[in-house]
Amino acid sequence: MKVLVVGGGGREHALVWKLKQSPRVKKIFCAPGNAGIARDASCVKISAEDIPALLAFALEKEIDLTVVGPEAPLTAGIVDQFQAAGLKIFGPSRAAAEIEGSKVVAKEIMAKYGIPTAAYAVFADPGEASAYIKKIGAPCVVKADGLAAGKGVIVAMDEQTALAAVRTIMEDRAFGEAGNRLVVEECLVGEEVSILAFTDGVNVVPMISSQDHKRAYDGDQGPNTGGMGAYAPAPVYTPEVHRQTMEQILIPMVRALGEEGRLYRGVLYAGLMVTSQGPKVLEFNARFGDPEAQPVLTLLETDLVEIIDAVLENRLDKIQIKWREESSVCVVLASGGYPGSYEKGKVITGLDQLPAGVVVFHAGTAEKDGSIVTAGGRVLGVTATGRDISAALEAAYRAVNSIYFEGMHYRLDVGKKAMDRYR
Ligand code: AMP
Ligand code: GLY
Repeated sequence: MKVLVVGGGGREHALVWKLKQSPRVKKIFCAPGNAGIARDASCVKISAEDIPALLAFALEKEIDLTVVGPEAPLTAGIVDQFQAAGLKIFGPSRAAAEIEGSKVVAKEIMAKYGIPTAAYAVFADPGEASAYIKKIGAPCVVKADGLAAGKGVIVAMDEQTALAAVRTIMEDRAFGEAGNRLVVEECLVGEEVSILAFTDGVNVVPMISSQDHKRAYDGDQGPNTGGMGAYAPAPVYTPEVHRQTMEQILIPMVRALGEEGRLYRGVLYAGLMVTSQGPKVLEFNARFGDPEAQPVLTLLETDLVEIIDAVLENRLDKIQIKWREESSVCVVLASGGYPGSYEKGKVITGLDQLPAGVVVFHAGTAEKDGSIVTAGGRVLGVTATGRDISAALEAAYRAVNSIYFEGMHYRLDVGKKAMDRYR
């Protein structure tokens, strides 16, 4: 079969890497891809957001299956448009993906169906939002309603920061239309965990748990990023937390989406805070997490194409999904300055001598004059598996030490929370 993967980051490289192992896959295209993906697939110069061009390409090449990585095409309706053209595509419809596209929609569904999440209020007026913040005080969390590339959430430890966030979102319009409305939320305390699940709209099969590292620097300091590393499984996700997550969050949410006319098929990502009162939802995403997809997919034993077929044919309950009983760690190597401004075009060395058990997924890379160079903020996801988290960490950091580009920065404490728990 011929497969098209949409996107060009570390998550999409991990998807291509996994799909390539399927005996059923003969050819993989990726739009737009990157320099690392180009070694595993044929990259096509089409933006992940150019749905008409992607559709024309898929029809022309007679693509048998399209797999969508990022949220933007999903919330713009790529799945609806491909299906209308008779093409097979993996991901939620536009209406279903709105649980990521609109934080207000997600919160309203959770409130209506009693799914545990932070208490909240919605505002369309900056004056009212500010008055509310002055009334409830800090800490609180201010979130732009729409997509803001992970930057639309401000966790405010003091009132001034929260009021400034309202101005950034609603008056400076830093995220454009995404700031027409905003959500002010109670600040939850606990440890975060990401649970990605496959669902066909009825059956829900969770993947192995994982944990992201959102802040730029060690010790969870510095600005938020797209994610500086991840590992799987996450020991904070105990059997009891798992039971609560399935019973109170994933199964009711999938059922609620069906009842709301937003039947959800694809990967549902629940970002959870494990609080003293159990897991609560921080956010839902309509896709695989990035970087979480990198450690999670390296532990998946089952053919991803088999799982996707089962989702699309509403028979997820009929297949067995197997995971390697190991740990996986992904350390993100970022450009100097990221998540602020950074330079591109730095030559990357050391990619050719990787030990067994390590795979380097490319995110922001390009090929220039025969060299691989940096082309984005998050550049590489150095991903290693091992018999436990400590073995995986050792292998990942050993590989990191052999890779270099000017300005490269990364966190040294990926997996530390897991190590602390095991100790
Ligand atoms: P989100 O994009 O909604 O996941 O928010 C990004 C990050 O902000 C999360 O991963 C959390 O670290 C933090 N965050 C979001 N909502 C809350 C909340 N209600 N309480 C505490 N932290 C939050
Ligand atoms: N790692 C967070 C996300 O994918 O949204």
